[in-house]
Amino acid sequence: MGDAFSDKVFDNFKPWNREAAMARATAMRYAIEFDTIEHSDANSLALLGTVGAGKTMLGCCVLNELLSRNIGVRYTKYGEMMQKLKQNAMDEEAYNRHLGNYVNARVLFIDDMFKDSRTQADLNHLYKVIDGRYFARRPMIITSEMTIDQLADIDLAIGSRIAERCSNYAFTFLSGREGNYRLRGLI
Ligand SMILES: Nc1ncnc2c1ncn2[C@@H]1O[C@H](COP(=O)(O)OP(=O)(O)OP(=O)(O)O)[C@@H](O)[C@H]1O
Ligand SMILES: [Mg+2]
Repeated sequence: MGDAFSDKVFDNFKPWNREAAMARATAMRYAIEFDTIEHSDANSLALLGTVGAGKTMLGCCVLNELLSRNIGVRYTKYGEMMQKLKQNAMDEEAYNRHLGNYVNARVLFIDDMFKDSRTQADLNHLYKVIDGRYFARRPMIITSEMTIDQLADIDLAIGSRIAERCSNYAFTFLSGREGNYRLRGLI
């Protein structure tokens, strides 16, 4: 994932407001407890809400921490995963290979869930990934601008599986623009 990724470590994530401090604590607790909870019902992390609040960075902090402990992780932007699956929908062998990459990774980080693509076809592909991981109890790290409720409104089967797996490790940024780190000092 390049140089930008290696800077994304907990020490560089500033607790610049109350929500940032709480989200960082949730992500750190997830990384610390990962070995104990990996195969449990609540083995996944959700970082939701406010644009620019640091959701992607915190997810990458967790990945870096897990990688340093030799735990295999896979990162994908939601849109890229959807594109890969849709592009290969007509080629069963290629489709199953790509789907398997997403379903079988030890940890899968899906960044910006539901951003842009959420047609019924998109949801059918996504369901295979989420249900495959849900069934096998494989951990997910999920970021989205949406709340858990909004995820469930879009697709209850997908949203409720995510809600269950993320029930111990979820943080939703609820502030408005003042919580956007990209705009700090500008508004
Ligand atoms: N608490 C923080 N300390 C240091 N840098 C931060 C912090 N929060 C965010 N950043 C930086 O601000 C930028 C925006 O953060 P990030 O991309 O993680 O936000 P996001 O919540 O994923 O936004 P989006 O909803 O647009 O995907 C990144 O460059 C990130 O490294
Ligand atoms: Mg992001």
